[in-house]
Formats: sequence, structure tokens, C-alpha cells
Amino acid sequence: MKKTVLDFLEMKKSGKKVAWLTSYDFPTAQLAEKAGVDMLLVGDSMGMCVYGYPGGTIPVTMDQCIVHSEAVRRGAPNTFVMGDMPFLSYQTTPPDAVRNAGRFFKEAGVDAIKLEGGRRAVSMIKAIVDAGMVVCGHIGLTPQSSVQIGGFKAQGRTAESAYELVLDARAVQEAGAMFLLLEAVPPEVGKIISENLKIPVYGIGAGPCVDGQLLIVSDMLGIFQAFTPKFVKKYANLSEQIVIAMTDYVREVKEFKFPEDIHTYKMLEGEEEKLKKLIQKEMISPIQE
Ligand code: KIV
Repeated sequence: MKKTVLDFLEMKKSGKKVAWLTSYDFPTAQLAEKAGVDMLLVGDSMGMCVYGYPGGTIPVTMDQCIVHSEAVRRGAPNTFVMGDMPFLSYQTTPPDAVRNAGRFFKEAGVDAIKLEGGRRAVSMIKAIVDAGMVVCGHIGLTPQSSVQIGGFKAQGRTAESAYELVLDARAVQEAGAMFLLLEAVPPEVGKIISENLKIPVYGIGAGPCVDGQLLIVSDMLGIFQAFTPKFVKKYANLSEQIVIAMTDYVREVKEFKFPEDIHTYKMLEGEEEKLKKLIQKEMISPIQE
């Protein structure tokens, strides 16, 4: 049965960990649901993992996020699905944020949306929550503003910068967000923030002492090859297996080994002879246009 925000709150209270993955398409969502993943994020990391944009998440549009969220929703009807608000879909004004967040719920049927930013995102979070939607904040390494923070770098490594994150985390909770995602922070900071907040705090590269973990599906399956962040554990090396399979296919086609008899459709008994006769007849008296 699909978990609700109340189930996630209860899991935090009882110390049960949440296993969260990104997903961008129907088949992966189906497999994730089968595997018992608690929550799926249709991340704007699709900019790298699906579209291969050199600009990372920045070029990703609302329309792309909606289409992928719809596919994930269809693949995982019984899993909590979160849409990820792309760059400039919410940073402009609270009404823009509400309108775009609303599209995820109305068009894709998501259960929550995620947006980046701590104190500076408060007015957007409040507006979306006031409109009746579930919000997850995202602080620490925030890819949409990675240029401002000097690249894809761990955050909160000094007491001062970690304290800023604590203030951001509290502000996100006070604004009404029901979840917080912490990206690329030391485990001590993950622990302090999750202990300080009532809402579930999940981490991607935030150590073990948070309420749950998120990984990017293309990283953990070993599909995305451009780079591997420190926090990734590869549970499979699918890119290697895919290349082996494709190489075998190419070789078998060229060596006349594929397709075999079992991969072909049979004509009905006697129909091949009839067809040949029809063609012969046509050659003697060609069909007139
Ligand atoms: O888009 C995404 O997958 C994310 C993760 C990097 C946290 O926001």
C-alpha cells in the first residue's frame, strides 16, 4: 500500500529508515516498486542522467519534469512519488511556485514536490503549502545554485557553515515543509539536523544518522558514467552488462546467428506455396494500376 506523510512521520519516530531512489521512467519505476523502495524522486538530475546536458540540471524544463513524473507515476502507482521543481520554476515568485507545483499534482499525480533552498525559499514553500501541497526542502549541496557555492562541493564542513544549514533546516520546517533532504554534508551535521527537526530528514551523502537515504538510480545501478560522487555506492554495474549484451547482439546479427527459429513467426500451413503462386501469376499477367 502506498505510504503517506503520516507513515513517513511514524517511521521517523520509530527509527525505521526510508529507502528513497530517483526514477525517470516507467520501467525503472515498476522495478523500484517491486523492490519495495519507499519513495521515488523524479529528479531534475534527469538533465545529466537522461538528457546528457553539459549544463546539468539547469536546462531542465517543467514540461520535461511533468512528462517523466507521469511515466513514473504509471510505473509505480503504489509508491510515494515526488516531483522535483526545475530551475526557475519557483525561484521567481510565490505565485509561479504555486502554479508550477500545482502542475506536478494535477498533471502527473505526484504526492509531493521538492525544491532547493533554505531561508531564501521560505516564501515559496509557504505559498505551496498554503495551496494544500506537500513540500520537501533541499539544502546542503544544491545543484541548481552550484555555481554560487563553487561547484559540486560538500557543505557544512565548518561550525559556522553547518550552523547556517541548521538555520536553513529550521526555516524550511517552520515554513510548513513535510520533508527535508540534506545533500553532501558531514555525518555529524546530518545527525544534528535530523535530531533537531520533527519532520523526516533524508540524506544523499549526509551519513547514516538521518531518517532515510536517497541515491540516484543511474549511479547505484552503474549506468551513469560521467562521474561518481563520493557518496554513491554502486549496487550493480549495468553499463558493463549492457555493453556486453549489445556487443553480443551486433556480433550475432553480423554472423547470421540472430534471429534463430524460435524468434520467428510461422506462416500457416500451405500459405507459403499459395503466396509463391500468387506472385508467379502476377509476373505472367502483371496487376494493372
Ligand atoms: O535531482 C535530483 O536527483 C536531486 C538529487 C541530486 C538530490 O535533487
